Order: sequence, then C-alpha cells, then structure tokens
Amino acid sequence: MDTNEIVLLKLFFVGILVNAWMMRGVSGAETVEATTPRPRRACNESRLQWDVEVCGEHFKKDMALIHPQYWCNLTYFISEYHLFTLCTETKSHDVDCYWPNPLVEGYIIRIHKLFFSNCTMEEVVWVDPPDDTLVILILIPIFLTLAMIALVVWCSKRSDVLA
Ligand SMILES: *[C@@H]1O[C@H](CO)[C@@H](O)[C@H](O)[C@H]1NC(C)=O
Ligand SMILES: *[C@@H]1O[C@H](CO)[C@@H](O)[C@H](O)[C@H]1NC(C)=O
Ligand SMILES: *[C@@H]1O[C@H](CO)[C@@H](O)[C@H](O)[C@H]1NC(C)=O
Repeated sequence: MDTNEIVLLKLFFVGILVNAWMMRGVSGAETVEATTPRPRRACNESRLQWDVEVCGEHFKKDMALIHPQYWCNLTYFISEYHLFTLCTETKSHDVDCYWPNPLVEGYIIRIHKLFFSNCTMEEVVWVDPPDDTLVILILIPIFLTLAMIALVVWCSKRSDVLA
C-alpha cells in the first residue's frame, strides 16, 4: 500500500468521523427543538385515542360533503385535511403528547385508507417539507466528505505529476 492510499484511507475515516459528528449535531439540534415544549405530565394515550377519533369524525363529515369523485384531488379538501391535522396536533398537546406520535400516525393512516386507498400517487401528492429538509441536512455532510476526498485525490495526483 503506497502512502497515497494510506492518506486516502485515513481521510476516509476522518470523513466518517466528521460525518458521524455532524449527524450527531443534526439529531442533537432536533432533540433540543423537540424537547423545548416538554410535556409536564405523561401522555394520556387512552384519552388521545378518543380525542383523535373526534377529529376523524369531523373530517369524515367534511369529506361526506365532497363528491367521492373528487376525493383524490387535494384541491377539494386541502382545508378540511389541514383542519384535521391541526385538530390532531391540538388534541395531542392538550393531553401532553408529542405530535406527531405513533397513535396519531396510525389513525391518520386509517383515515387515508378510508378515503384515499383508490388514489394513485400521481393524483395525491403529499407534501412533507420537514422530511425534505432533514434529507438535505443529512446529504450535505456526505457531499462535503466526498468533495474533500475528491479534492485530496486530485491534489495528490497533481503533486505526483509535479514531483
Ligand atoms: C386519561 O384520560 C382518561 C379520560 O379522560 C382518564 O379517565 C384517565 O384517568 C387518564 N389517565 C391518566 C393516567 O391520567
Ligand atoms: C375503492 O374502490 C372499491 C372498488 O371499486 C370500492 O368498493 C371502494 O368503495 C373504493 N374506495 C374509495 C375510498 O373510494
Ligand atoms: C384538481 O381539481 C382542480 C380544480 O378543479 C384542477 O384544476 C386540477 O387539475 C385537479 N387535479 C387533478 C390531479 O385532477
């Protein structure tokens, strides 16, 4: 193994360490953000189950007013859907639960199955900006590492040529 390869290998490990460190920074920042409004009492899941179903009943009533033909077109029910999401969020906070949480997610999936099971993905596009942001945050350090490795390879090749 020549020195260049060893340098590259070392850099690779440094890159992984930097990545791990940055990822910890990202997730650390996230937990700080998530724990700021720390609930004082424990999440009352049995009450949340009941409350979330109340939200669902409202949403079902709203959807019943819309012709099933339009159930796959978000334009027709975006405000109702937003109210439903907002309702689950408010109720979760009321009973000291985080939002989103597995219980609420499970219920939302049930609602989706009820109304949108026949929709194709092209018809209903679920926008989820927080996830996108997270993916970008994860990709940036990876790209930085790759760029660093490429730069070192390029530099060492150049110094080989110059030497
Ligand atoms: C949760 O809420 C239900 C209904 O309001 C109540 O009967 C129960 O005592 C609560 N449980 C806890 C642990 O607070
Ligand atoms: C989906 O299609 C099936 C079969 O055509 C129908 O029975 C069901 O009611 C439809 N569901 C929705 C949510 O439109
Ligand atoms: C949804 O409905 C709106 C308004 O009628 C229409 O402009 C749009 O093309 C529809 N979208 C889909 C995917 O059918």
